[in-house]
Formats: sequence, C-alpha cells, structure tokens
Amino acid sequence: MTQAKPFVLAITGASGAIYGLRLLQFLLSIEQPVDLALSRAARRVMLEEHDLVFGSEIKKELLDHLGIAQEAPLIVHDLGDYGASIASGSYKTCGMAVVPCSLGTLGAIAAGLTENLIHRAAAVTLKEKRRLLILVREMPFGHIQLKNMTAVSEAGGIVACASPGFYHRPQTIQDQIDFVVGRVLDQFDFDNALFKRWKSETELWDTKNNG
Ligand SMILES: Cc1cc2nc3c(=O)[nH]c(=O)nc-3n(C[C@H](O)[C@H](O)[C@H](O)COP(=O)(O)O)c2cc1C
Repeated sequence: MTQAKPFVLAITGASGAIYGLRLLQFLLSIEQPVDLALSRAARRVMLEEHDLVFGSEIKKELLDHLGIAQEAPLIVHDLGDYGASIASGSYKTCGMAVVPCSLGTLGAIAAGLTENLIHRAAAVTLKEKRRLLILVREMPFGHIQLKNMTAVSEAGGIVACASPGFYHRPQTIQDQIDFVVGRVLDQFDFDNALFKRWKSETELWDTKNNG
C-alpha cells in the first residue's frame, strides 16, 4: 500500500495568516500528512490577527485552535533546523505551499537564499521540480517584488495572490477565505468544494434570462 506523500506548508509573516491556518485545517481534515514550518514573523502576525500565542507545545496548541484531533498527521519543524526532513530533496513530498508568503520570503526564494528552513525547503522543492506555490500578500507591488515573482515563476513556481473573487457572490469573510484556499488546493489537485465554481455558459445564460 502506498502512503500519501507529505505536503510541506510554510506560513510566513504576511497578513492573512488565516489562509495558511484554513489550508492546514483542510489538509488535516482529509488526513493528508503535513510538514509545517512557521516563520518568526508569522507568529507575530498570528498574535495580531488571532490572539494566538504559542508555548512549547505548538503542535497541540495549533490543533486545538483548528479543532483537529491530536492524532492528526502533522509535523511542526523548528525554523532553524537544517537537519529537518524537508531540508533534503531525498525526503519525498507532494509539493510545498507558502501561504501566506511575505515579500521577504518571496525575495529569499527568488534569490535562492537559505536563511531559514522555509527558504531551504522552497529551494529544495524547486530543484526537485516539485510543485511550489507562493501566495503573496501585499499591495501595491514594487518593481523588485514584481521581478522576484517573475523569477520564481521562471524557476517553475506558481505565484498566486491572496485576492478572492466576487463572482461566486461571497456572503461572509469565510466564503472569501475559502475561495482563495480552494484555488490553492486546486493547484495541487486536492478535490475540494470550498467554494462555488464558475457556472457553465448555459447555466449562466439561463440565470440571466430567467431571473
Ligand atoms: C501585523 C503584520 C502584518 C504584516 N503584513 C505583511 C504583508 O501583508 N506582507 C508582507 O510582505 N509583509 C508583512 N509584514 C511584514 C513581515 O512580517 C516582515 O517583512 C517579516 O520580515 C517577514 O518575515 P518572514 O518572511 O520570515 O515571515 C507584516 C508584519 C506584521 C507585524
């Protein structure tokens, strides 16, 4: 029997920690093994946005926050541990997402820097030709960031933006979060019904003409 390959998730210090947390919650809810790394700035943002403060039992605390059972297949890595599994290309994964991705981490990935485990894992994902998605959150973008996004894309990465659509008529903030997270999951072929997909042309035409 083949076991699902682990998914590498990094949460960095851009606003929108909820995107990373919701993605983690979804993946664990389908029993997808996850290797997680949080940057120091991500912890700071989680404090601002969610009043989340982690002690020594970060895995337990995160799972409690997400309402997921403690047996969930989650490994939380130390940001400074270059000996971690995800620092090596020989550790097989089904890809990596940086959600949300700060401009700082974007720059490090674009330049191939390995200042922390997140950068190293991203560099490994690219060199192994596995799928790497970064969900950048900032506005406006400067020229340097645009060039960095181009560099990541040219290296085979998927550059996504934390920009929810409105054509699915979101009613709540959760709808908007789930739209973005659902589209991230789509990039890795995880089946999900987190958001309402675009209608077929016929349906759209019917809706327009029959109310
Ligand atoms: C509350 C808060 C919100 C932030 N929002 C963003 C953001 O949306 N995008 C961004 O690139 N940086 C943002 N930053 C700044 C990053 O956290 C900072 O550049 C940090 O060095 C990123 O480090 P990391 O990439 O290792 O997480 C924010 C910081 C704080 C405290």
